[in-house]
Amino acid sequence: MKHEDMIAHARQVMSDNDRGTYTVPTHGLYPFQWNWDSALSALGFAQFDEPRAWTEIETLLAHQWEDGMVPHIIFHQPDDGYFPGPDVWGTGREVPTTGITQPPVAGFAVARIHDRARDKALAGQKAREMLPRIHAWHQWFYRARDPQGTGLVALLHPWESGRDNSVDWDDAFSRVPTEGVGDFTRRDTTHANPEHRPTDAQYKRYIWLVQKFRSLGWDNSKLHDASPFQVVDPGFNAILIRSCEEVADLAGRLGMTDIAEQSRAMADKGLAAMETLWNDALSQYLCYDRKLGQQIESPSIGGILAVFAGVPTARAEAISRRIAKLAESCEYLIPSHDPTSPDFEGLRYWRGPVWLIVNYMVADGLERADVTEMVGRIMGDCLRLIEVSGFAEYHDPITAEPCGGAHFTWTAAMIIEILHTHEFAA
Ligand code: GLC
Repeated sequence: MKHEDMIAHARQVMSDNDRGTYTVPTHGLYPFQWNWDSALSALGFAQFDEPRAWTEIETLLAHQWEDGMVPHIIFHQPDDGYFPGPDVWGTGREVPTTGITQPPVAGFAVARIHDRARDKALAGQKAREMLPRIHAWHQWFYRARDPQGTGLVALLHPWESGRDNSVDWDDAFSRVPTEGVGDFTRRDTTHANPEHRPTDAQYKRYIWLVQKFRSLGWDNSKLHDASPFQVVDPGFNAILIRSCEEVADLAGRLGMTDIAEQSRAMADKGLAAMETLWNDALSQYLCYDRKLGQQIESPSIGGILAVFAGVPTARAEAISRRIAKLAESCEYLIPSHDPTSPDFEGLRYWRGPVWLIVNYMVADGLERADVTEMVGRIMGDCLRLIEVSGFAEYHDPITAEPCGGAHFTWTAAMIIEILHTHEFAA
């Protein structure tokens, strides 16, 4: 496919999923606004419509909670096709939202869109408006999700990670009870192949946690210590650290000194603490189970995505070698779980498939560290996947089979972004 045709197709996907002030990830399966989907999709919008890109993030931030949290889903319009809906979450917001958060990539997105904006005046104005909100969200993380001040934040629900059913959570998640979860009807499996989705047993535990947090009135000063699930994810922390780094730089340039200094301090502390998650044997970072006080030996993409933050060059080089090793066991980079691991499942969501958004962030981190050997391969694989299988939610790293929802917003946004920012042989 010609690159301009690919871009035209991607723009069509984005405009089909555009609801005016926000986009849905894909019609049917995900009919609301998702947090990190919006931030990453804004990068795609910015390539052809800067005002629309700003609106996407503005809408997201308009639903920030008073304590600083930016929720993972905003239920703008009722839709029966999704479970669990607002009645299950019971957060009591005027426009209903969930009560958990998602990877805070908005800070990175705002800085990137600002820095390359054609409309500098608009970009300056929008960044000035948004940075204090994003900063408040970052501060919320270190207050509410790192009460001991370790420098690393914990996830309290697998959905916060954005990598919903990763192998990383299995052990910690098996300690989440299921008692008291009544009957419910999943909707996701009516829109997508159940073989590509999490299991029923996992869904019960997802809902148990929601009910637990709801019983605590969604009070974030209580949730962390009360949660039986507290996992530190290097990928998630890297996104937070990178956003703090970007906010520090941009705020500094805009003369917002307090935000710049505080963001720099958070990023520095986070980066230093990331070192405790490094695992030499696997040549990547690993998750950490805060309840058990031990690393989780699961070779997933979270520990590779860590390169998105300004990790030491030696770590970036080791991660690049790790990716080269993964390339020996799959056709398309980067699998969300090591294909040689017994837990690998090529079609099941975050237990093996390739996700373009993750590829983009990993490649960006490697470029920023100036460790570029694998970058062309990772970006090229994104294009090959779309060429072979279309704008799916995720793809099998061995067969390229398109999985999950079709016609996916952030997949399309990544293609637009990648084709505008990298050179490829036609
Ligand atoms: C799934 C993904 C999550 C994403 C959401 C909407 O829950 O795991 O990362 O934000 O779908 O696309």
